[in-house]
Parts: sequence; structure tokens; C-alpha cells
Amino acid sequence: DIEGSLRPKTLSEYIGQKKAKENLSVFIEAAKGRNEALDHVLLYGPPGLGKTTLSGIIANEMGVSIRITSGPAIEKPGDLAALLTNLNQNDILFIDEIHRLSRSVEEVLYPAMEDYALDIIIGKGPSARSIRIDLPHFTLIGATTRAGQLTAPLRDRFGVIMRLEMYTIEELCQIIKRSSRILDIPCEEDGAWELAKRSRGTPRIANRMLKRVRDFAQVVGDGVITSDIAADALNRLEVDKLGLDAIDRTMLRTIIKNYGGGPVGLETLAAAIGEEAVTLEDVYEPYLMQIGFLSRTPRGRCVTSLAYKHLGLEQDGQQTLD
Ligand code: ADE
Repeated sequence: DIEGSLRPKTLSEYIGQKKAKENLSVFIEAAKGRNEALDHVLLYGPPGLGKTTLSGIIANEMGVSIRITSGPAIEKPGDLAALLTNLNQNDILFIDEIHRLSRSVEEVLYPAMEDYALDIIIGKGPSARSIRIDLPHFTLIGATTRAGQLTAPLRDRFGVIMRLEMYTIEELCQIIKRSSRILDIPCEEDGAWELAKRSRGTPRIANRMLKRVRDFAQVVGDGVITSDIAADALNRLEVDKLGLDAIDRTMLRTIIKNYGGGPVGLETLAAAIGEEAVTLEDVYEPYLMQIGFLSRTPRGRCVTSLAYKHLGLEQDGQQTLD
């Protein structure tokens, strides 16, 4: 599939995340040299930065298989037991959204991670007893947008904890050029750059917008992604010069108009614009904070003067209380 073919398979093909890549390559080489499973890895950071992609690469570089699942998909302890007992030696179990595991499932995970063992309770009442089943040595890779929401006992069981960073425009430009080569989309350097500038630091967004801009290039232009075609297509999709979409702008304008620029609490803001607080926090805020448009204070979110300027609004310093 297309999504799959865009995913790099090796660390050397993977663009950006220099620090994570350098360290991972050492850990992988060391574990391989000892013929051991890689230590458990926690990847965290905003969505779309390549946590799943990187996990697939780790499996490929280790020469092992990967099973992919997610926190909400593992409903009962037995679901996790089934996954764990089906792994081969040194395989990887990838759990996306690992912060959403239920407490009872998490408790099965502790001995599995620490001792490669499952503790199973047999029987009920006074005759109940626990038996231990050995598991193959495996690597758990957990991914989350919110490392702060992991319980301490779970977080403490990861030997490697890595935060993925937003990508620079240069890195996104490289990713867009690579993807357009793979998808056979003619794309000029300036066209790739225009797309990169509007991709909010996020490869997933860059690749998604590349496909939509290609549609405009094909129908409105002559098939080539130029900077004009990219700018025109993205304006039509209501993605502005910095990559802000309609929800980003509504968020900023609501804080300015209803709350005098802030501070306003996240829940209050979410209710005012009809989005979920977690969506605002995980999906929208990271980029707005990265570009310095939003700040978090103990009393709530505040819009900065950079954001006023970008939106073409006057910042008069007066707080309106209506
Ligand atoms: N596609 C998505 N993320 C990527 C990355 N970091 N490097 C190369 N291609 C990608």
C-alpha cells in the first residue's frame, strides 16, 4: 500500500530525529552483538512524527518480527497474554497509545517486561493459586503522545525513553522530495519547500498534503507541483502560510475575542469551540507552542503577540470581560 511504501525501512533512510537515531543505532548494534532482545523502548511526542515508522525500522534493523497493537485494543488481560505468548525470541510488541492501557492489563505487563513471565491465577477463593509461565525474551515498544500520563511503574520499566521532536522545514522538504520520487509526482524544489513550510513540523501532514496538492496540480495545473500550485492548493484547503488550519485559527481567535488573549483554562476553551480538550492538547497545541503563538501558564493558555500579528489583529492590552 501507499502509506506503507512511503515508510522508510532502515535508519539510514529515516530523515530527521538525529539524536534518537544515533542512540538507537548504538543500542541496536549492542543488543545484536549480544544476541539479546533490545531493551524496552518508550517513544513519546506529538502525533505524526514517525513513532510507528521508527518501530518498524527498529524491528527491521534487529532482524525480528513486530506485532502492532494499541492500548485501547487490548481490552482484557487475556488479550495481552495471547499477544505475548505468540511472540518469538527477541520479537517486538508495539503498543501505540500505551497510556490508554487499563490498569488490569498494565499489571500483566509489569512481570512480562521485567522477568519475561506471565503470572496466571488459577481457581477462586482459598484454593486459588498463581502459576508462572515463561515468555520469550521480547522488546516492548510503547508509543504515546503524553508521557506524563503513564503511571510511574510502567514508565520505570522502559530502559530507553525517547522524545521525538518536530521536524525542521529542511527535513520536511527532504521527506516531501523522497515521497514524491516514490509516488512519481513531479515536484519542484520551491514546491516542496512551500509544502514543507505548511506541514506543521509533521511528516504525516506533509505526506497527506502532498497527495492533495498533487490533485490540484493535475487538475488545475499541468501536473507539476510548483510553489504557486502548492500555495494555491493549500490556501483552498484553508491551510495558511504557516500551516495553521481552521481549528488553529478558531482556537487563537476565541482566546483573543472571548478571553482577552488569555489566560483561559483548556477545558473552558475546548467547550467554547466544541472540540475535545485532549485533541487540543495533543494535536493543536504542540505546534502552536513550537512556533511561539501560544504559551501555557499556571492559570491557563495565553496567545502571544506573534499570533496577533499573524492573524492581523490589534493587541490593545485591554482585557474585555464580557
Ligand atoms: N516518512 C515519514 N516520516 C519519515 C521520516 N522521518 N523520514 C523519511 N520518510 C518519512
